[in-house]
Amino acid sequence: MTDAGADDERRRVLYIIVCAAGPASDVGKLVTLARQRGWDVQIIATPSALDFIDAEALETQTGRPVRSQYRKPGEPRSPKADAIIVAPATYNTINKWAAGISDTYALGILAEAPGLGIPVVVLPFVNTALAGRTAFRRSVEDLRAEGIHILLAPGQFEPHPPGAGGKMASIFPWDLALFEVHKVIPGRSKQVHGQ
Ligand SMILES: Cc1cc2nc3c(=O)[nH]c(=O)nc-3n(C[C@H](O)[C@H](O)[C@H](O)COP(=O)(O)O)c2cc1C
Repeated sequence: MTDAGADDERRRVLYIIVCAAGPASDVGKLVTLARQRGWDVQIIATPSALDFIDAEALETQTGRPVRSQYRKPGEPRSPKADAIIVAPATYNTINKWAAGISDTYALGILAEAPGLGIPVVVLPFVNTALAGRTAFRRSVEDLRAEGIHILLAPGQFEPHPPGAGGKMASIFPWDLALFEVHKVIPGRSKQVHGQ
């Protein structure tokens, strides 16, 4: 078999970037859905998100270490991503990404993704006080202009009133993010990234 043939045979890799917001503790639901659809999943958590997730359980579920830092020299690379979901995506990470800041491993991956042609789907989790800020609206607009798929609209994620996040976390629409990935990826894409 040729190298190209071997590449065709491999399972597609989905990076799930988890930020520090209420629904993060349920990210295993998205892992289950993605694995059912044939994805090999790599979880990348922001440093703050580590307090929200059960990294050990996710490692068992994905069969891969949860990453939140750049690897040290000599450590194995993560598999290259075919697609990326950012969920839940915080106000902080969305604004920093749009502003070009790359001070976490998660933001480093996101910084390069548009230039590498990796499809990125973002499912935010923000309240109305944050979502209404000019900075946030500008960030969403700028990222969309770069081709990022941000599920912030009626029927997608809709910001909740401040203080209602706990209740809304349980109905966070994880499935929409995966559905969007399947809408935007052009069939079996080639490996394009990994560090
Ligand atoms: C319990 C708790 C809930 C939070 N919920 C949210 C939230 O729903 N949305 C949000 O944007 N930030 C939320 N935050 C604030 C973020 O955790 C904070 O801005 C953090 O710096 C985000 O880091 P990250 O973007 O690197 O994950 C919450 C913080 C705590 C402690």
